[in-house]
Amino acid sequence: MKLHKLFLLGLAVITLASCRNKSNLEEVVQIPEPEAQETQSVYGNPADVKAEKGKFKMHGLPYAYTALEPYLDARTMEIHYSRHHLSYCNNLNKAIKGTDLENWTLEQILKNGDPNNAEVRNNAGGYYNHNLFWEIMAPKTGGQPKDTLAAAINRDFGSYDSFKNQFVTAAGKQFGSGWAWLVVDKTGKLVVGSTPNQDNPLMPEMPVKGTPILCLDVWEHAYYLKFQNRRGEYISSFFNVVNWTAVEKKYVEALKHVVKP
Ligand SMILES: [Fe+2]
Repeated sequence: MKLHKLFLLGLAVITLASCRNKSNLEEVVQIPEPEAQETQSVYGNPADVKAEKGKFKMHGLPYAYTALEPYLDARTMEIHYSRHHLSYCNNLNKAIKGTDLENWTLEQILKNGDPNNAEVRNNAGGYYNHNLFWEIMAPKTGGQPKDTLAAAINRDFGSYDSFKNQFVTAAGKQFGSGWAWLVVDKTGKLVVGSTPNQDNPLMPEMPVKGTPILCLDVWEHAYYLKFQNRRGEYISSFFNVVNWTAVEKKYVEALKHVVKP
């Protein structure tokens, strides 16, 4: 009997130890919150950025604020989209409220609006330009254009390197705030240029005219936190996140509006 009791006692001890071990295992396998989610919560979600009531809306970003790291930093992306771009959108809505412009498309406002109306001009430009800027960037892109766009760049600039040199020069030499552009002009040719402030190539009397398919924001708000006054480094960094597939789609679309002679 004594032996039997000892056996049962031993079995109970083993069972208890086993349960404890199981309990420990269950604690160990609890998965901590992924770092990415933590990072996301620090910078917020672009989809949460909403315009005040009005005709034009914020479209969100096709990627997270962190997605273009290390080339464009998350803090700058967040401030740029959720404050600067949002302000242009809200101020444009205020500027056109109660006017005929509420019935115009954004492109009509840019092409045919009164250039002396600074409030509409600056904010319509700022709204349009930033929408395009977010669209033509993406993570894990860069490299060089392919197919149709590559052929057009070779045709109109001689080579990709020649195009890039022209674009980098236009972006670097734009005095003060402004934008660098690759546009399709009215003959279907690709042209590089720059505009000051929030002007763009759809507006009348611009130094570069046509349908924009690629743009680079060279306002200091676009790069100062990471690059300070080193605009050249920012411009080089930008080429690591150019989504050439998106640019090519815009090129093909723009060609449809070219009037054949
Ligand atoms: Fe900007």
